[in-house]
Amino acid sequence: MALLAPSILSANFACLKRDIREAEEAGADLLHVDVMDGRFVPNITIGIPVVESIRKVTELPLDIHLMIVEPERYIPDFIRAGADWISFHFEAAVHHHRIVERIKELGAKAGVVINPSTPVSFLEEILPFLDFVLVMSVNPGFGGQKFIPESLKKIEKLKRMKKAVNRELLIEVDGGIKVENVDSVLKAGADVIVAGSAIFRGSISDNVKAFKEVLKNY
Ligand code: DX5
Ligand code: ZN
Repeated sequence: MALLAPSILSANFACLKRDIREAEEAGADLLHVDVMDGRFVPNITIGIPVVESIRKVTELPLDIHLMIVEPERYIPDFIRAGADWISFHFEAAVHHHRIVERIKELGAKAGVVINPSTPVSFLEEILPFLDFVLVMSVNPGFGGQKFIPESLKKIEKLKRMKKAVNRELLIEVDGGIKVENVDSVLKAGADVIVAGSAIFRGSISDNVKAFKEVLKNY
């Protein structure tokens, strides 16, 4: 079964605990947390103290998506704060292998994220060391953007690479995913679906259940 990771970027930040609980009780598998620094992306969101506070109000594994420059500077603090999965952008780092090994030493699952214009072939050498790859299907920085359909080809390509070198690898996809298009993303090869606005706008529990209804077939 594919996993659902609601992105709290579109939650009500004044009632974060309530929104997280509702998603958790309805069947969310992971909680996706978008960390932005106003440098790598043109937006600023959540930092380490917020992750620490979220850790105390949910049992769900925390999936921390770092959209920051020099991610290696902050990764240990995010893991101490409660990150179970942590991913950094390929485009924001130089020593990918060193960072991935450090994440694993610190006890978290390690992922690399690629922007829509970054080819999956850039991941060839790092792939055997990764727990997951996060494929961006919008340009990172904001919730509520439109899914870029060309992402499907990248997911398919990555699925072929995964079969050849790392069968345990999970493919996570993030951006513009709705109940209406999630099927095509799953068919292409996604194992983990991130959804923000499609979960936290309207009834959170109805939205989670509608996604899970499709995800259970994969
Ligand atoms: C965008 C973030 C996403 C965002 C997705 O930079 O990485 O996780 O919350 O939001 P939707 O699902 O609304 O596109
Ligand atoms: Zn994200």
